[in-house]
Amino acid sequence: MLDKIWRIFSQDIAIDLGTANSEVYVRGRGIVIQEPSVVAINQKTGQILAIGDEAKKMVGRTPAHIVATRPLRSGVISDFEVTEQMLRYFIEKAQRKKIFINPRPRVIIGIPCGVTEVEKKAVCDAAKNAGAREVFLIEEPMAAAIGARLPVQEAGGNFVVDIGGGTTEVAVISLGGIVISKSLRVAGDKLNEDIIHFAQDEYKLLIGERTAEAIKIGIGSAYPLKEKREMPMRGRNLVTGLPEEILVSDEDIRKAMEKSIKQIVTEIKTAVEETPPELLADVMASGIQMAGGGALLRGLDILVQKETKIPTKIIEDPMTAMVRGAGMVLENLDQLHEVLVETEYLEPPK
Ligand SMILES: Nc1ncnc2c1ncn2[C@@H]1O[C@H](COP(=O)(O)OP(=O)(O)OP(=O)(O)O)[C@@H](O)[C@H]1O
Ligand SMILES: [Mg+2]
Repeated sequence: MLDKIWRIFSQDIAIDLGTANSEVYVRGRGIVIQEPSVVAINQKTGQILAIGDEAKKMVGRTPAHIVATRPLRSGVISDFEVTEQMLRYFIEKAQRKKIFINPRPRVIIGIPCGVTEVEKKAVCDAAKNAGAREVFLIEEPMAAAIGARLPVQEAGGNFVVDIGGGTTEVAVISLGGIVISKSLRVAGDKLNEDIIHFAQDEYKLLIGERTAEAIKIGIGSAYPLKEKREMPMRGRNLVTGLPEEILVSDEDIRKAMEKSIKQIVTEIKTAVEETPPELLADVMASGIQMAGGGALLRGLDILVQKETKIPTKIIEDPMTAMVRGAGMVLENLDQLHEVLVETEYLEPPK
């Protein structure tokens, strides 16, 4: 009874705690927060100065003792305390202030496939410490598939690829469960690094991560473009120490990222090869669905389609697919609870 009353007032939330960006969905309200997963810390005192948008503005503009870090880097919690603070910030920011009683919310959090029990426990503990009453976990590709309104609970094969900042997750989903999953720590961040290395090796030019990302988004592609694109790349010449600008083309950048993109495509092909034949027949019909910001790289869908011979499409609004899906689970917990990850620390929903 008390639990029922709690449920009416409690503002349950779904969180995609991504390595690059975090999104928060509140039950009944939709997505209320979309901010970079960046935390600015004073290294002298250990104090957190800013989180999210505020912290990202500080990147590269702070005195030496203040650093703007990304606590999640490779998809799992690498800095527990900072992650907990970030979760607390998002949970508190998402709560509507007006309500006079503010029961602690139930929280659904997306995790990469194949994380260990210890890592799952770390996420649950961090969320509980950050103010969650109950914590449910969902695998990110499952949430993305639900966000794309794929029939995950039916007896058909759904093939999802989520390319984020830190990880590429590939999953085949059927009957509410994940049949096959692959997780590769090569995704958007690695492509930025490739561009940084290219600038250094080719032109002795030192460029920052934000410049590299701007070039990737500006002219980057996985497949030859119909029209040639160029963009100035600004940095510091490592020999002279002076600023320099070099014009790079889509072809240069495609070459720079080639190896990493090949790794991503190979991972997808391996998952296709391991898919049981019956499910593969379904996937041939329904296609490969791509989610995550990395799916937006020009021509990646064409390359994947060409290499796998399976029709490939990008989920609408791929960067928010995961949190929208987790939000849909939140709205329909009774029908959809089977898609959640079972862990020994969590009780099933009542
Ligand atoms: N138009 C674009 N073209 C290419 N890459 C893009 C584009 N837009 C965003 N990205 C890349 O998408 C990545 C972020 O995607 P997303 O927000 O889905 O990641 P995340 O969920 O935070 O990370 P993860 O799922 O690995 O934890 C970044 O590497 C960013 O550079
Ligand atoms: Mg993600």
